Amino acid sequence: MPNEPPRTPSPTPPRPSRRTADRADPTAGVVGAPIPAMPGGLPLLGHSLQLRSRPLEFVRELRRHGDIVAFRLGTRDAYAVNHPALIHQMLVDDAQHFVKGRMFEKGRMVARNGLFTSEGDFHLRQRRLIQPLLRRAHIKRYTATMSRIAGERVETWNDAQRIRMDRELFDLTLETVTRVLFSTRLGAHGTAAVQRSLPVLLEGLGRRALSPVDLPATLPTVMNYRFARARARMRAVIEAVIADRRSRSSGPDDLLGALLAARDEETGEGMSDEQVYDEVVTLLIAGTETTAGALSWACHLLSRHPDVQRRLQDELDTLPDGRDIGFDDFGQLPYLHQVIDETLRLHPSTWMLMRSPTADVTLGGRTLPAGSIVLFSLHALHRDPSLFAHPDVFDPDRWAPTRAGQLRTDAYLPFGAGVRGCAGEQFARAEMAVILGVVLRRRTLRPVSDRPVKPVVRLIPMPGPMPLTVHRRSRAGGAGADQ
Ligand code: HEM
Repeated sequence: MPNEPPRTPSPTPPRPSRRTADRADPTAGVVGAPIPAMPGGLPLLGHSLQLRSRPLEFVRELRRHGDIVAFRLGTRDAYAVNHPALIHQMLVDDAQHFVKGRMFEKGRMVARNGLFTSEGDFHLRQRRLIQPLLRRAHIKRYTATMSRIAGERVETWNDAQRIRMDRELFDLTLETVTRVLFSTRLGAHGTAAVQRSLPVLLEGLGRRALSPVDLPATLPTVMNYRFARARARMRAVIEAVIADRRSRSSGPDDLLGALLAARDEETGEGMSDEQVYDEVVTLLIAGTETTAGALSWACHLLSRHPDVQRRLQDELDTLPDGRDIGFDDFGQLPYLHQVIDETLRLHPSTWMLMRSPTADVTLGGRTLPAGSIVLFSLHALHRDPSLFAHPDVFDPDRWAPTRAGQLRTDAYLPFGAGVRGCAGEQFARAEMAVILGVVLRRRTLRPVSDRPVKPVVRLIPMPGPMPLTVHRRSRAGGAGADQ
């Protein structure tokens, strides 16, 4: 199985080593111990309404009831696994006893057998083929593209202009992923189609995953109609790109080219067009809104914490004038990585994940029945006061080498862990570092109002509309910011 990726693309500042366990280790709990139940379930609906109407609050409440808590999604039994050691056991040590379950079965409506949704040997094979394409050797090249795209975009922002930062960043991350995947631009029509389709698909998948009942996708509802149209639009754009590339004897050296050229080590077989489609759409879905959401939160937090923003700009100003941040600069920007770590702690893009045991599994002495829904929340984990002091406070210095040694290794999981951990972690971290670096070297971000920005939870908790003003720095890329 692929190794777990390191947390930051190298070269990096030295990561602090962190200690484990100062809370009682529950992995060897009393076998057969009863599982506490979450109060407040409704007949037939269980806790589904709570999970849908106030998801972030609900997962934090679940956490207060124990290391494993039983609740119901509709009439189905569900369990929340809350302790970091138990989550680690499920994702890493006992990963072979779990499949991804309901949330990901729904994902098959968009990508039938992509890296996110496939299971078993097939998943391992695909991961072996794709993971290396998202690793260090390639990322160095990708960062040049990322830097160029971000620089071009920032130059379109006028001084003191008010912009919808969340939209800008969605466009920017979409353009980055598509340019890395396809080299060339998708064209105005293709880009617009993907931009319109992705949010509809993510919203539809999230709603279906949390729905108490499995209603047929063919029911003639407005939601189903929009979902089907978005899926058809996306398919048409991507299939056209694949067909075009297959028709050429040689193509650009990009991720799509690598997917088309990939061969199974044992059989020598390549991927069918259907499989390439599944992987491309998976990378678009997994790699756009996740990073856009994290970047939006980072910009929001920096605009509300001018001291942190100034310190980050001071660090960025130590880079040589006249060129933007690149891969080789990462090692000299420890504070930038701390800001990214802290943003992903407060706002992990995947706030909640699911698994399902393939047979009865004992976890912390409790039995989770085969086929049950098992949920774990990175949001609740990262905001637990017993794991992170003052968990709701934005404090990048908690990741400083002098302090980070006090944190648990297994309590921070923005990219998941184990065999199903994020295949794009290095890509995402590089993209966040480059985009934040490029933006903050050239602009200072200021909030438009003091009103709290509320997360809008789909599959990913995105900040709601986020207008910011962007102020040109007097010596972009050098010292002397105009703050
Ligand atoms: C800040 C950005 C991102 C975050 C926080 C994030 C987070 C995650 C998490 C938590 C998982 C594990 C899901 C689970 O255990 O069920 C995951 C899986 C995955 N991610 Fe990411 N991700 C990000 C960006 C990306 C990017 C940029 C790509 C690709 C270019 C990507 C591709 C994938 C893929 C393919 C998987 C499935 C891996 C597998 O099951 O083998 N992600 N991601």
